[in-house]
Amino acid sequence: MSILITGGTGYIGSHTVVELSKSISDKIIILDNLFNSDFSVIEKLQTITKKNIIFLKSDICDTNFLKHIFTKYKITSVIHFAGLKAVGESVEKPLLYYNNNIVGTISLLNVMKEFNCKKIVFSSSATVYGNPEHLPIKETAKLSTTNPYGYSKLIIENILTDIYNSDPSWSIAILRYFNPIGADKSGIIGENPSGIPNNLMPYIIKVATKQLDSLNIFGNNYDTIDGTGVRDYIHVSDLADGHIKALDYINNNNEIIKINLGTGKGYSVLQLVKTFIKVNNINIPYNIVDRRPGDIASCYANTELAKKVLNWESKKSLQDMCLDSYNFIKYNIV
Ligand code: NAD
Ligand code: UD1
Repeated sequence: MSILITGGTGYIGSHTVVELSKSISDKIIILDNLFNSDFSVIEKLQTITKKNIIFLKSDICDTNFLKHIFTKYKITSVIHFAGLKAVGESVEKPLLYYNNNIVGTISLLNVMKEFNCKKIVFSSSATVYGNPEHLPIKETAKLSTTNPYGYSKLIIENILTDIYNSDPSWSIAILRYFNPIGADKSGIIGENPSGIPNNLMPYIIKVATKQLDSLNIFGNNYDTIDGTGVRDYIHVSDLADGHIKALDYINNNNEIIKINLGTGKGYSVLQLVKTFIKVNNINIPYNIVDRRPGDIASCYANTELAKKVLNWESKKSLQDMCLDSYNFIKYNIV
């Protein structure tokens, strides 16, 4: 049995490969075009897992190459991370996002169908809940989104639902991630985007390493504990573990499941920044600036379904997340 991990050299994919290698004996095959990752991740994964991981540099849009992989490795299931994920960029370059994320996924699904491989775990996002009416957010909440990235996730969720409705021999897990941060405890892999980051933790890291002077906090007049935005930060290794449970579930049930992966706890920007400062004993200068357009006040998950269906819940604390995020940078950058 072989499992294909698209986008497996990326941030969440690489952490999932680490967890997978602990729990399955299947051959692990990573396919990634290295658009937002680096070949060095493969060597790092071999170091952590002490396993031989097969890596293929290719694009999910290349249907012929996918057919070659499915023929050669007899793929029996897929965890599909490959995709572009920057909200702002998706507004500037919608066709790039629709092409890469949607056309790429259709290419993958066509090949899966042709080779009778009908088990897939898909990376969706809490972004599909838009501005939620109720907190914590249940999977049954109204879905809406405001940007091409979010639409690409919603459209793929719909495509997968239609496929399942037309052929219930598929097994599909749609996982809606909240805000992954942190890094593997080895400090060998983690997240370090190039350029000026959009997301909070990568920005804090750039300030911690003095690559940027100070953090801009987008608004302190939200209706939250201290006025700054509240999010459900989840340790990437906990998130990775959720994929193992989801894979196990779809291996044993022909169903489509749509499940939140979050901790169920919301923390504000200031709470996160202060925790980072305390556990790492490092100063993070910050300024309060205007709200970021499109931001919502609060977003955190109802995690009951994940507990009930997958028997999964997050274990790591905000302190762990802050320590591990910086630990990775200390080992690799500073
Ligand atoms: P990432 O950019 O680190 O990883 C994605 C990987 O996919 C990269 O290595 C990239 O090179 C690869 N890729 C992109 N397009 C490809 C293509 N056409 N063919 C082959 N490889 C391709 O991102 P991540 O944070 O690990 O996110 C993984 C998935 O989870 C994405 O689908 C993302 O939209 C989703 N997601 C991420 C977050 C988050 O905060 N990180 C939140 C919700 C959902
Ligand atoms: C963003 C994306 C969302 C995606 C998620 C996880 C937007 C509008 N939304 O959400 O689609 O699923 O990342 O990848 O980009 N903040 C600051 N200063 C910063 C950066 C962020 O104050 O420099 C604040 C934000 O206002 C927010 C919180 O930190 O309150 C978290 O921001 P971020 O990490 O960008 O995640 P989301 O806004 O949840």
